[in-house]
Amino acid sequence: MLNEKLNSYIEKLLPGRESLFVEMEKYALENKVPIMELVGIEALLQLLRIQNAKKILEVGTAIGYSALRMAEALPNASIVTIERDLDRIHAAEEFFVRSKHGGQIHLIKGDALEVEELVSEHAPYDAIFVDAAKGQYQKFFEIYAKYLCDDGIIITDNVLFKGLVTQSDIESKRIRNLVKKIDGFNQWLMDNLDYHTVILPVGDGIAISKKKR
Ligand SMILES: C[S@@+](CC[C@H](N)C(=O)[O-])C[C@H]1O[C@@H](n2cnc3c(N)ncnc32)[C@H](O)[C@@H]1O
Repeated sequence: MLNEKLNSYIEKLLPGRESLFVEMEKYALENKVPIMELVGIEALLQLLRIQNAKKILEVGTAIGYSALRMAEALPNASIVTIERDLDRIHAAEEFFVRSKHGGQIHLIKGDALEVEELVSEHAPYDAIFVDAAKGQYQKFFEIYAKYLCDDGIIITDNVLFKGLVTQSDIESKRIRNLVKKIDGFNQWLMDNLDYHTVILPVGDGIAISKKKR
């Protein structure tokens, strides 16, 4: 992972954000809602800009922070995003109404493991961003990769899980099991012959997978 000093150095260099984004960051902090880290989301947005993504699928909306940031960065893109938590859905909907970018976003309410049909109606996707339950990453990837266009990319967040993937002495059984699952996913992804994948130690660790031709 980027060490803390370097991370804050880069954060300080970042240009200011719309006031609604700053409000959402504050809301997330106060309500303990996990949203993408500042440097991590900049990396995600830059990849999407380079790719000129027009249609993006996000698995894990939370309060809609990354969806709105993607919408702002890519004004010609539409974003389909999935969330199952009702309180977060309500919060996201309120933020979408208040934002001038909200019209680019279509929120699918439900469990990502159960709403494939609804998601398929908007396919194909230029990019898929996976940022939901970490223990289910492989399932999300397997379900939704088939809706990716030929030049598409899949970006998976949290693959280094605060650096815990390198630790063997984790006390909590729950966290230990989660780390095992993330590590299993990382191994599976890197061995997946249908994709070129690189893992970058940015934010909480992002994996970028590009379909092989
Ligand atoms: C890390 S947060 C997403 C943060 C968001 N992408 C951002 O950066 O602003 C993960 C979200 O995924 C949701 N989630 C987890 N598993 C899910 C599933 N199977 N189906 C739908 N949503 C899920 C959680 O409720 C949570 O709000």
